[in-house]
Amino acid sequence: MRLHLVLAGIVTGVYAQELYISTTGFTARPQCTAPPATPSYRFDEFYYSQSETVRYATSIPSPTTTHTFAPGYDEALEIWGTSLLTTTWGNWLPNQTVITATDTDDKYGQAAWSSQWQAASLVNYTSVGLYTTTVSPTPIPSSELVLPPRDYFSPTDCYNFPEDFLFGVAASAAQIEGAIALEGRAPTNQEKLISDDSPKNYVTNENYFLYKQDIQRLAAMGVKYYSFSIPWTRILPFTVPGSPINEEGIKHYNDLINYILDAGMQPVVTLLHFDSPLYFLRDSNQSATPDIGYSNGGYWHPEFVDSFVNYGKILFTHFGDRVPVWHTFNEPLLYAFNFTGIYNVVKAHAELYHYYHEVLGGKGKVGFKLNNNFGVPKNPENTTDIDAADRFNEMQLGGFGNPLCLGEQYPESLLKTLPGAEPLTDEELVYFANTTDFFGIDPYTATVVSPPPGGIEACSRQNMSTNALYPYCVTQETTNIYGWNIGYRSHSYVYITPTYLRSYLNYVYKTFHKPVLIGEFGFPVHDESSRDLTDQLFDSPRSTYYLSYLSETLKAIWEDGVHVAGAFAWSFMDNWEFGDYESQFGIQVVNRTSQERFFKKSFFDMVDFVGARKGLGYSR
Ligand SMILES: *[C@@H]1O[C@H](CO)[C@@H](O)[C@H](O)[C@H]1NC(C)=O
Ligand SMILES: *[C@@H]1O[C@H](CO)[C@@H](O)[C@H](O)[C@H]1NC(C)=O
Ligand SMILES: *[C@@H]1O[C@H](CO)[C@@H](O)[C@H](O)[C@H]1NC(C)=O
Ligand SMILES: *[C@@H]1O[C@H](CO)[C@@H](O)[C@H](O)[C@H]1NC(C)=O
Ligand SMILES: *[C@@H]1O[C@H](CO)[C@@H](O)[C@H](O)[C@H]1NC(C)=O
Ligand SMILES: *[C@@H]1O[C@H](CO)[C@@H](O)[C@H](O)[C@H]1NC(C)=O
Ligand SMILES: *[C@@H]1O[C@H](CO)[C@@H](O)[C@H](O)[C@H]1NC(C)=O
Repeated sequence: MRLHLVLAGIVTGVYAQELYISTTGFTARPQCTAPPATPSYRFDEFYYSQSETVRYATSIPSPTTTHTFAPGYDEALEIWGTSLLTTTWGNWLPNQTVITATDTDDKYGQAAWSSQWQAASLVNYTSVGLYTTTVSPTPIPSSELVLPPRDYFSPTDCYNFPEDFLFGVAASAAQIEGAIALEGRAPTNQEKLISDDSPKNYVTNENYFLYKQDIQRLAAMGVKYYSFSIPWTRILPFTVPGSPINEEGIKHYNDLINYILDAGMQPVVTLLHFDSPLYFLRDSNQSATPDIGYSNGGYWHPEFVDSFVNYGKILFTHFGDRVPVWHTFNEPLLYAFNFTGIYNVVKAHAELYHYYHEVLGGKGKVGFKLNNNFGVPKNPENTTDIDAADRFNEMQLGGFGNPLCLGEQYPESLLKTLPGAEPLTDEELVYFANTTDFFGIDPYTATVVSPPPGGIEACSRQNMSTNALYPYCVTQETTNIYGWNIGYRSHSYVYITPTYLRSYLNYVYKTFHKPVLIGEFGFPVHDESSRDLTDQLFDSPRSTYYLSYLSETLKAIWEDGVHVAGAFAWSFMDNWEFGDYESQFGIQVVNRTSQERFFKKSFFDMVDFVGARKGLGYSR
């Protein structure tokens, strides 16, 4: 059956971008030998040719070995040379406005904890959802694991994934957990992000209580790596060093990590995925326009670096023995707010990296993951377009990549454009150099870049309120030089641009000289949420996205010599997309009334693609 499809796989629409730099004429078919001169027509007996062979998804085998990536809790604590205070707080319930706790003279007590929620004054916090305690998982029936019909076209590459390639799926706490004010968690900026009547993050997918079922579903599909984030305020409700640790939070993530391992999978942990403690923003003007990024994560706060490093050490101490891969920051530029924010992220990351490897003796990997819709020059033969694309890409990646990978200064473009930007000192450059084990990126799509009207120079001397293109100061378009969309369009900003992914992987590896980890990639099918369930599940455009991106990743590895360390599909289920449930990035559908999950076709297609190329990371 597969052979048929491979032969039929000629050249599909998604490769069409390549034509734009080629010349004229039709696509070559070197794989095809000359057909017979005339067809031979005949009246054979007719029969129905479809076959309904059932093949099931393959689950992860039970673990036979355990790996240790850092000292266990007791030893790690001794290495740190500190003592840690723990306690519990409880819940701030829906509709609650009054503080009942009476321990008002304890600055870290229940009353102080409650007052954070009272001050946060959440709009419409009326429900915690269906669950208030961890739900026992039920086995995934084999009827849910039957492979869907294939799409006609599929990639024709003949490459396998390298043995150490990490394939997995990802999501973040604020987008799936719910339980925002239960079991001691304190408020984050995500609860305040949406001020209109769009959906909030209060309930989302209730993964905080349904995590066992969610892990079972991933294991049943054969996924090895599960990338998730921990909310800082669930571990340290008072944010700062010296404040007590939330026992319930530690227990939850210990249980989650152990459950992942018991299922034969591996955890990948992100320390901060946009959900900054509200603590850092309590006195700031949250509606102030950022110099860079689109939101205020409070990273500029004078207490941020020490507090983040302390929080990171706490996670390393508790979970470091079992976690092979860590991301310190998710897409920090988007929440950096201004130059101070960028500097603090670089500093905090480097401190934690040094601590993990040099003090704790951690043997896992520590890195970060950055946002960037890869900027491609509108006309690749026009140097001003190329300069504009270079500027766009270096401004998004170089603020972190230059110092942390290369020990090099911030890009000139950042220093010249952002108010108050200052170069790093020689001492800092030495300390920051080589402090990441990989370069994480979330390469969802590409954007077509050219200089702005009036030129880059004039724009970069202005600011956000006088020039909408500031600070990047480039024109970004979604159509190519001939007016075609750069790829098939999704429900949001993502276009299917697999050949640009290959180019992007080359750019990152050849610029920053670190293994590239695709921390997220995914595609919200247009209008998916308004369709019937069975139609949502048959998500061919998402399959095209994943299979073409993975195929181009293989070409980058084998043909271009790019070290791609792994790839995590975003998201492992539809989730809260910062005020929106309609941009469905998931490879599973979630029923928002019942919290049931359903596998989409793209999930099966992707696992089959990766498994057929020996990339699932087990069974060899
Ligand atoms: C909170 O109040 C709203 C009405 O304002 C009500 O619909 C809801 O059921 C209440 N929630 C709880 C948990 O009592
Ligand atoms: C709060 O809920 C009410 C009733 O559902 C709705 O009309 C209103 O728009 C909501 N407000 C916000 C800010 O979410
Ligand atoms: C907060 O910032 C916004 C946008 O820059 C501005 O309009 C508003 O006046 C500021 N508010 C305060 C209290 O400073
Ligand atoms: C390159 O593009 C810019 C604007 O994007 C244009 O002004 C310029 O004429 C182009 N140069 C050439 C050689 O085509
Ligand atoms: C970074 O590490 C690489 C490989 O270990 C080494 O060759 C390079 O000199 C280091 N760079 C800096 C700036 O320390
Ligand atoms: C960044 O913003 C914070 C908060 O408004 C401010 O204190 C700090 O000075 C700003 N940094 C720069 C370089 O403008
Ligand atoms: C979601 O689940 C509810 C409760 O089981 C059910 O009534 C509803 O039809 C489901 N929605 C969809 C779109 O399947």
